[in-house]
Amino acid sequence: VNPTIMTFELTEEQRLIRDAARDFAQQELKPGVIERDEKQQFPAEQVKKLGELGFLGMMTSPDYNGAGLDTISYVLVMEELSKIDASASVVVSVNNSLVCYGLEKFGSSQQKEKYLKPLAEGSKIGAFCLSEPEAGSDATSQHTTAEDKGDHYLLNGTKNWITNGNSASTYLVMAQTHPDLGHKGINALIIEKGMDGFTIGPKENKLGIRGSDTHSLQFSDVKVPKENRIGEDGFGFKFAMKTLEGGRIGIAAQALGIASGAFELALKYAKERQTFGKPIAEHQAIQFKLADMHTQIEAARLLCLKAAWLKDQGKPYAEAAAIAKLFASDVAMKVTVEAVQIHGGYGFVKEYHVERLMRDAKITQIYEGTSEIQRMVISRSILSL
Ligand code: CAA
Ligand code: FAD
Repeated sequence: VNPTIMTFELTEEQRLIRDAARDFAQQELKPGVIERDEKQQFPAEQVKKLGELGFLGMMTSPDYNGAGLDTISYVLVMEELSKIDASASVVVSVNNSLVCYGLEKFGSSQQKEKYLKPLAEGSKIGAFCLSEPEAGSDATSQHTTAEDKGDHYLLNGTKNWITNGNSASTYLVMAQTHPDLGHKGINALIIEKGMDGFTIGPKENKLGIRGSDTHSLQFSDVKVPKENRIGEDGFGFKFAMKTLEGGRIGIAAQALGIASGAFELALKYAKERQTFGKPIAEHQAIQFKLADMHTQIEAARLLCLKAAWLKDQGKPYAEAAAIAKLFASDVAMKVTVEAVQIHGGYGFVKEYHVERLMRDAKITQIYEGTSEIQRMVISRSILSL
């Protein structure tokens, strides 16, 4: 038995990174988080600082200005940031695991020089653009077209719900080039903000992660140089699927953080709030709620870390990532609802933070593949379909 394989201890480096993220969340994200949520304000200053700390290109190699850390560290950071501000942590998730990872793993050396370096060092932000008004779960049915014009593609269509939609500079856009080939005809193209014919729609007014910058994007005869295609002709759908495998670890960890943030608040409140002459934490009904919340969070954390560990070991992790996301996002919903309940009426007002966490939790069951899609991925994997 190799004792390093099944250890549940973090390394010294992983602990330091987790603590740095925890401090950052307390000092930089907590002040103003309620106001940003209310005003739907993108945490621009905070994201800039996250970039300076190396959190936007955490897993990218130092050769491309990244921090070169492992996926376990990424999960730890996502949990800590999401305890306080899921609108900020989703930027970290998309930039790291959808944009930087996708470019590093599948991009050409020129694409890495030009696009990955500024994204990994955090001087620019990226967006991942797969969903469309009529293609969310059914992602192969892309209506956006990238017509092959010899030395360039002509891009036309609409993308929906794009995170970092307005704040990004670099967009990875999936589009159909050969409709007769179905998903094998889809390409992934790198689009720059400001290209002629590329316009950004208004910001969505959302239930949760209201500070996150969600927009539709329109492409009207956008000329995209051929060198901006990622991988071979027709690789775009596989690119999206492979990239989303790791993205789902990030969102699972976001859900975990939302749950553990709400739990910490509920635990503290339960010890302080008195009813019937004693703290509510001394009523068994509240104790059992706390026990269930803690148990669910612990299980979600282990699933997140297992998926991250598999990725770090170079083993297949698509199923583990889907399991982690499915489970952790349900935990985020259950735990945040109970956290509001433990706070009573105070939980229903913004000042106590748990109502925001409850609203933020819901998106983790929807984006990067709904819970139903995760069940499809898991069932196809266990049935070898
Ligand atoms: N790796 C490599 N290839 C994969 C793959 C993976 N993980 N998953 C599927 N594929 C391949 C399949 O092998 C198949 O290729 P072949 O025909 O060559 O074998 C091809 O992709 C099509 O797969 P399916 O036949 O399984 O396609 P499907 O139509 O049944 O759908 C799906 C598959 C898993 C449901 C997929 O459509 C899906 O993941 N949908 C959800 C989309 C999604 O997650 N969107 C998230 C957008 S990003 C986002 O949301 C960001 C954010 O919020 C912050
Ligand atoms: P639909 O696919 O229409 O699904 C509707 C319902 O039907 C869901 O409950 C779904 O699970 C269920 N369903 C669908 N098909 C099946 C089936 N076969 N079996 C059982 N149930 C099924 N996308 C990006 O590309 N990039 C982003 O950055 C991004 N950010 C987002 C940010 C936010 C805030 C939001 C809300 C969405 C974001 N998305 C992004 C889009 C997101 O990934 C999609 O909303 C999601 O994949 C679901 O697609 P849909 O909304 O079209 O729902």
